[in-house]
Amino acid sequence: MTIPVITLDGPSASGKGTVAARVAASLGFHYLDSGALYRLMALYAMRNQIALDHEARLAMAAVRLPATFAEGVVKLEGEDVSDAIRAEEVGIGASKVAVLPALRAALLQRQRDFRQAPGLVTDGRDMGSVVFPDATVKVFLTASAAERARRRHKQLIDKGEAANILQIQQDIEERDARDAARPVAPLKAEADAHMLDTTDLTVDQAVAQVLAWWRNTA
Ligand code: C5P
Repeated sequence: MTIPVITLDGPSASGKGTVAARVAASLGFHYLDSGALYRLMALYAMRNQIALDHEARLAMAAVRLPATFAEGVVKLEGEDVSDAIRAEEVGIGASKVAVLPALRAALLQRQRDFRQAPGLVTDGRDMGSVVFPDATVKVFLTASAAERARRRHKQLIDKGEAANILQIQQDIEERDARDAARPVAPLKAEADAHMLDTTDLTVDQAVAQVLAWWRNTA
């Protein structure tokens, strides 16, 4: 029997990470936040003075990136970088390295290795289209840009960071445009994906909807 996979793709700050982690916990499945891999690559590049468009060097680094994921803690070269990879400039850097085809190819097998029993829930931009095209349930999560900016702004304020909501919305829109326009693995809804607009949904409601789609496959 193939190991089940539930994919949640969508634009930044659409809530897919929160929903995916909750669905994984409720089913006892593994969870892969694929964006964290791109964020790690950006952080690695920034720290090692590698240009964000140096495809060959970054692809080589991606294959043996010394990163680990355990119990929600992301480590790079042994250092806990769980907070560092969430910085806005690292997210922007991630969307720049993510346009490089050789880097994406280098990360492909690393992502597929997370598919382990009893199952996997994963979120990103191309989980249902490229990485796990045979996924059991595919979901495309969206929310209006204004709502996504509001959520990201609240996250930053809650963490005690200064944040300007208009600047955040502009950054989100630029990042989405870059993710959707790139020729390799662009952000787009697959024909076989369930559409889930979370603008007016609570996290509980979004989680319940994904679980209902999952139960329908049984
Ligand atoms: O989801 P998150 O905001 O953490 O992702 C950071 C960036 O990584 C995205 O803007 C996107 O450019 C890239 N990414 C990607 N493919 C994925 C996950 C993330 O290109 N599967």
